[in-house]
Amino acid sequence: MSLRAVVRGVGHHLPERVVPNAEFESKLDTSDEWIRARSGIERRHFAAEGETTSDLATRAAKAALADAGLGPDDIDAIILATSTADFTFPSAATMVQARLGMTQGFAFDVQAVCAGFVYALANANALILSGQARRVLVIGAETFSRIMDMTDRSTAVLFGDGAGALVLEAQEGQGTAADRGILSTDLHSDGRYRDLLYVDGGVSTQTTGHLRMQGNQVFRHAVEKLAATAEAALEKAGLTSADVDWIVPHQANIRIIQGTAKKMDLPMEQVVVTVQDHGNTSAASIPLALSVGKARGQIKQGDLLVTEAIGGGLAWGAVVLRW
Ligand code: UT7
Repeated sequence: MSLRAVVRGVGHHLPERVVPNAEFESKLDTSDEWIRARSGIERRHFAAEGETTSDLATRAAKAALADAGLGPDDIDAIILATSTADFTFPSAATMVQARLGMTQGFAFDVQAVCAGFVYALANANALILSGQARRVLVIGAETFSRIMDMTDRSTAVLFGDGAGALVLEAQEGQGTAADRGILSTDLHSDGRYRDLLYVDGGVSTQTTGHLRMQGNQVFRHAVEKLAATAEAALEKAGLTSADVDWIVPHQANIRIIQGTAKKMDLPMEQVVVTVQDHGNTSAASIPLALSVGKARGQIKQGDLLVTEAIGGGLAWGAVVLRW
């Protein structure tokens, strides 16, 4: 017997305002055709004025708790992956904790940019396996629209806002790859690549800054590193890509998603794709895809999933879990 961190519930929340590609055509030297062809994005959601990351995160958390049939009193810890917290401090996670009416347990943010949800899952798994928490609410939530340079066509059209959440629960498994729950994790970062994707401001410089990206360089690293981390995670679980039912990738670019699936020798029919509707929502993209994938009837209990993501840092990684 061995303890597993098993998904008990999932949910998401998207801001009401949908921004189609056409909206950028009047403001920037770009076109719907270019954005679709190069990224696969057709539309994204932008938060309303005054709507913050903790607002989106709280809504997603409530949806996941409802799906799990649990209340805030049943949760021991909240881990919120975000690079766009409402405030420098307190953490967005403690703000969600308060808004759920949860006074027990502990809450903290994880900042690994687009890889944030994979890092958060790995941390939640470690808390559960070490007996420090029985149930963990793992959230990815972002308002990247607030850090976009809306005059920069190479980045403004790519990102969106949203939130997704999972409830993970400690359950006894057999200790085999047939168990439900997180089966393995694989995390990496390499700070030498800072200049490829960063925000040119922050607390210590007393500015907020804007996202800056050398897209084609990040693209090159993504294609090379994502399949490798996914395969490393599968190997740790004693599995191969032939065992995978669904790849649930970070949703940055359809061409990266296709390239990774091809390297893993899996058809696009086995990939959950939401990039066309959400754009790149950074740490929110994987939990959004998990929630939408389940709602579409793609992801079913017992399916073997591999999630993978890469982003600023560079930071990247993968998690293998049986739903
Ligand atoms: O989530 C974190 C990780 N981030 C990513 O994974 C993003 C990775 N990168 C990408 O998704 C792609 O590199 C992009 C979608 C950002 C760009 O696609 P690309 O095929 O790599 O294009 P590129 O950057 O090489 O640019 C090609 C051309 C350039 O023009 P020239 O130099 O060839 O004349 C750009 O100036 O496309 C131009 N361009 C645009 N044209 C119309 C860049 N942005 C736009 C735009 N509309 N919005």
